[in-house]
Amino acid sequence: MASDDTRRIADPVEMPEERDFDKSLRPKRFADFVGQTAVKEQLEIFVQAARNRGDTLDHVLLAGPPGLGKTTLAAIIANELEVSCHTTSGPALERKVDVAGILTNLQQGDVLFVDEIHRLNSAIEEVLYPAMEDYEIDIMIGEGPAARSIRLSVPPFTLIGATTRTGLLTTPLRDRFGVWQRLEYYAEDELAAIVRRSAGILGVEIDDESATQLAARSRGTPRVANRLLRRVRDFAEVRHQGAISLEICLAALDLFQVDHEGLDKLDRDILLTIVQKFDGGPVGLDTLAVALGEESDTLMDVYEPYLIMRGFLQRTPRGRVVTSAGLRHCGLDAPPREAGKLFE
Ligand SMILES: Nc1ncnc2c1ncn2[C@@H]1O[C@H](COP(=O)(O)OP(=O)(O)OP(=O)(O)O)[C@@H](O)[C@H]1O
Ligand SMILES: [Mg+2]
Repeated sequence: MASDDTRRIADPVEMPEERDFDKSLRPKRFADFVGQTAVKEQLEIFVQAARNRGDTLDHVLLAGPPGLGKTTLAAIIANELEVSCHTTSGPALERKVDVAGILTNLQQGDVLFVDEIHRLNSAIEEVLYPAMEDYEIDIMIGEGPAARSIRLSVPPFTLIGATTRTGLLTTPLRDRFGVWQRLEYYAEDELAAIVRRSAGILGVEIDDESATQLAARSRGTPRVANRLLRRVRDFAEVRHQGAISLEICLAALDLFQVDHEGLDKLDRDILLTIVQKFDGGPVGLDTLAVALGEESDTLMDVYEPYLIMRGFLQRTPRGRVVTSAGLRHCGLDAPPREAGKLFE
């Protein structure tokens, strides 16, 4: 199931082949960044204030589900500050010496973007504490009995951390960020604006009704909106003359099995599995993951948030439960317990 192509179209996580595509559609300035008004306004103020004072911007933590614009915002911040953005990630930073290398090579005021910052190992975190606080690092020189620790200063810099899981950040690390922002799912009109903007960049003709349809099915996520646009464009080019009209758009979405709420086959499978195999729930995350052949983490981070946000699924202390809205969406009207019995 994990490799089933039909479920991947609504996956908010970036696919490797999408990286270049994502890059070309990425807004470069706050002015081009659609939505997240409160976050954007605050970041703009902090950036402007730092620029006016000639200061280094405080460390920024960006949290939120995949595909909402954390990487994009980090690049925008660096751009607006007119500094370089150096990118790395939690899992990529394995050795203290690599971190020391990166930090000592920064220019004053540069941005160091650490994606998936919740996945840093503790040794690396310890190097970062004094670096973030006092712009100093302790490194070991030599080996064995002759080894000694020396303190080096690094240029003042801004660390921008991105995470999908704020809960996994250690307290000392979290406390070292001066600015915290949480990105939320986008509203439909914002996603429609993103679709129109992307279509403009890609040179695809699309009418407003189709842009609205794509927006409604994008799970509040710009990355999904852009992906749907790209796939519907393929459909329009191969089966029609290239322009996306409502009729073409709906036919394509039907073919891709993305329903009017933006749920794809895997989402519906999750809800149906809980109903059919677990009597509507509650069912523990791990059990559900085994039943679906998915990783628990993927289920929790990638698929559940949207189902929960739409009120189709609930996390309870005893496990996951399908709500009556979830049942209705699957075409089942009975309350969970009875619906479960339908399949016995
Ligand atoms: N506010 C926005 N306006 C326009 N496009 C956006 C916006 N936010 C995100 N995008 C587009 O969505 C895509 C995904 O954004 P981005 O890579 O920044 O997400 P992310 O939060 O870093 O995701 P991940 O958690 O997977 O790293 C980008 O290609 C970008 O073009
Ligand atoms: Mg990212």
